Amino acid sequence: MNDKNNLKWFRASTPYINIHRDKKFVFFIGGDVVLDQNFENILNDITLLSSLGIRLVIIHGAEPQIITSLGDKEWPHSGLLHITSQELLPSILSGIAEAKLKLEAGLSKGHAAMRSELLVTSGNFVRAKPIGIKNGIDYQHTGATRYVNSAAIENLLNNKAIVLLSPFGHSPSGETFILDAHELAKNVASTLKAEKLIFFTADDGIQDRNKNIINELTESQLPLIPDRNQKKLADLALSACKNGVSRGHVINFKRDGALLEELFTLDGSGTQIVQKSYEQLREASPNDVAGILELISPLEKEGLLVKRPRELIETEVKHFRVIERDGMVVACAALYPFGSKGELACLATHAQYRNDNRGELLLKRIESDAKMQGLSAIFVLTTQAEHWFSERGFVEAAIEVLPESRKALYNYQRNSKYLEKKL
Ligand SMILES: CC(C)(COP(=O)(O)OP(=O)(O)OC[C@H]1O[C@@H](n2cnc3c(N)ncnc32)[C@H](O)[C@@H]1OP(=O)(O)O)[C@@H](O)C(=O)NCCC(=O)NCCS
Repeated sequence: MNDKNNLKWFRASTPYINIHRDKKFVFFIGGDVVLDQNFENILNDITLLSSLGIRLVIIHGAEPQIITSLGDKEWPHSGLLHITSQELLPSILSGIAEAKLKLEAGLSKGHAAMRSELLVTSGNFVRAKPIGIKNGIDYQHTGATRYVNSAAIENLLNNKAIVLLSPFGHSPSGETFILDAHELAKNVASTLKAEKLIFFTADDGIQDRNKNIINELTESQLPLIPDRNQKKLADLALSACKNGVSRGHVINFKRDGALLEELFTLDGSGTQIVQKSYEQLREASPNDVAGILELISPLEKEGLLVKRPRELIETEVKHFRVIERDGMVVACAALYPFGSKGELACLATHAQYRNDNRGELLLKRIESDAKMQGLSAIFVLTTQAEHWFSERGFVEAAIEVLPESRKALYNYQRNSKYLEKKL
């Protein structure tokens, strides 16, 4: 990236910095991430997130470390679940400890100024229970989450600590059970009602049958996923979303910057998993003022829209409808009644989101709202979008038919065309 692109990227990331601040993110970081050459970069990026005020919980896996620790012994499994005997337990715990220490040491490293201030905390925040015997198989020391002490975790997060959890838990009887780390991440995220549950994987995201990355995945697309490990992540993320987590993400740990790209750019880098499509058209609220301004100011500078100062938008925000995507205003339009007619004003779609019917949807919404308000027509004053409106049933008329109260505000210098659509 050259300096100009860096600047552009940094500026475009500002809304996300504000959106993510104080939110809780739960990460799954597998043992393979710890061994990867990109591990150091991921730690730096996690440190950056913490310094931006994002509250972080990390659940780590340890599969390769456990395999090394077991030596020539095999860790049997049935389906996706391991079977943990008493005999294997010490070696498995030692593999888990190895991965945890690497993560803890990495986050404590002093060479990056910020990192020395990071407090990384672990503890017995998770109670476990045995899986027991299923279909005749005794899973022994393989367990499931019984309870997550969310109050204790929240307390530490509020004190700016990063909470690091290993994939095991103790039962009230004092026995130790190995937990599925992905499942644990889902349970922790659900209990905390985290904003995000983020899985690092060795792939660019979740792929469909044609090996295309699915950018936004909802429940209806589950049957499209052929890979059972990817399907498991999608299932877990969807289950977390049903329990109050806003979004799941699957991103590539091997690609430097994939995490930041996913969190701080419009299009992201991997797969985002949501319960239902995350775009909605709704009435604007005072919280949208900043987003509306951000969307329309470049268009005002280009002369495509009339300049509206912040104070005006603040007082007139109730006239606006917005399309919100991922917490950002990506399109907007306003309806101002003048007598029996309504003005459709400030119609705009973010440049990266055009040609996907959002303008049309907003127009339809404004038309229906205008009808509900008993208006007989809507009109626009436009300098460069005449054809857009005429293709949608607007007809040009002489400026004289502009409602009297609106005529007084007409800017003759802009020389806008007047187009009207009967309702
Ligand atoms: C006009 C605007 C709101 C349309 O938003 P959008 O979400 O892309 O709208 P839609 O997807 O419903 O419509 C896209 C179609 O309109 C066409 N279109 C876009 N701007 C146009 C214009 N100024 N004149 C004519 N057609 C235009 C696109 O080429 C596309 O046509 P296609 O479907 O044949 O490919 C958007 O281009 C914009 O924000 N423009 C700048 C602000 C502006 O001029 N607003 C109007 C103020 S009065």
